[in-house]
Amino acid sequence: MEKALVIGGSNGVGLAIVDNLINRGFLVEILDIRHPEVGILPEDKFNYQYCDLLDLDEELITAFAADDEIKLLMITAGFGRVADFEFFHTAEIKNMMTVNATSTLRILRLFYDRIKSNDIFLCGVMGSISGFISSPMAAVYAASKAAVCRCIESVNIELEASGTKNRILNVSPASFKGSSFYGGHNQLDLLKGLAEDIVEHILASDCLFIPQYEEIFKGVIERYNHDPHEYGLYSYQYKKASGRAMNEKRVVIGYLSGTFDLFHVGHLNLLQRAKKQCDYLIVGVHDSGEWKGKETFIPLAERKQIVAACKYVDKVVDAEVEDSTAWEKLHFDRLFVGSDYQGTDRFKRYEAFFADKQVRIIYLPYTLSTSSTQIRQAIRDRYKSGS
Ligand code: CTP
Repeated sequence: MEKALVIGGSNGVGLAIVDNLINRGFLVEILDIRHPEVGILPEDKFNYQYCDLLDLDEELITAFAADDEIKLLMITAGFGRVADFEFFHTAEIKNMMTVNATSTLRILRLFYDRIKSNDIFLCGVMGSISGFISSPMAAVYAASKAAVCRCIESVNIELEASGTKNRILNVSPASFKGSSFYGGHNQLDLLKGLAEDIVEHILASDCLFIPQYEEIFKGVIERYNHDPHEYGLYSYQYKKASGRAMNEKRVVIGYLSGTFDLFHVGHLNLLQRAKKQCDYLIVGVHDSGEWKGKETFIPLAERKQIVAACKYVDKVVDAEVEDSTAWEKLHFDRLFVGSDYQGTDRFKRYEAFFADKQVRIIYLPYTLSTSSTQIRQAIRDRYKSGS
């Protein structure tokens, strides 16, 4: 059976495309951060695997690229928000660029042997009309989509020059009804027509599909090209009047503290799990283990350097003795800690302290197999026995 891979296929237009491909007889592999709503697709016609474009698993994508039964790749994963630039935290900029642009291009690269091959391979990516024109109040989204649009446009020329008939379809709509892009629910019925058109263009190995091009967007792009500044001012007023702007802080700041002596996999698991539940992770490193009656082997500056180099960590600070004091300075939204601290006097105090501050304390699974104390003890034992 022919298989298709849809990245971001659990929601919105991705889901509608999956539905369309299933109706055309494909078995669809869905990669997404969420499972599609139960019952919305026939269970025996798709497989689901977790995949987060914020932390792209290249091995997983490479395995799909090596599967000859996969004949079609569609990438629809992405997110955006209409708001003035000043309301974007640097973490949101980084995340939007990573998901919408960097990871998307990396996936295309991992599939490139298939795309460039002389065997038919079908491929499409969700761009956006904002990748072609200035988009005040959607500046970051536009930047990410412009990167995708320019890349596909350029690569399609390389593909043509190489002699293959395969192309990457850039699907670049404006906002459309039925997607959960603006926080609404999936309405598959509203997306069926769009999905049908997209799939037809993929099957035709087209380079570009802008829905409602003749009726609307040809004129829009012409107006933009004629006078970008004039067009930008108009577009700004239009968005302001539409009431879609979400001018508010939208970033979840996480904090955790620890000693991080003899950095081990328990530390790594904790940092990875914490980062999954926030956008920006700040880690406080305690100067020594003294605060909990323990010694440290590695100097503070080195422990901070090691923690800072971990890809899940956005910022390292010197820890305050109390995490509640750190909050006074950092105003984080979530406090993470290993489950070994649940029920301790210290965390009972924090639960009381944070109760009226909209800060969630999240206990993450403690990794049983290791700890700095265990490693220090193992080194000592080995040293003593002289082995
Ligand atoms: N942690 C964890 N799993 C482990 C060890 C630590 O989840 N195996 C978590 C702790 O719960 C804490 C954070 O890592 O939230 C930092 O702890 P730290 O004090 O540096 O780690 P330990 O290895 O527990 O250190 P020590 O043995 O010196 O107490």
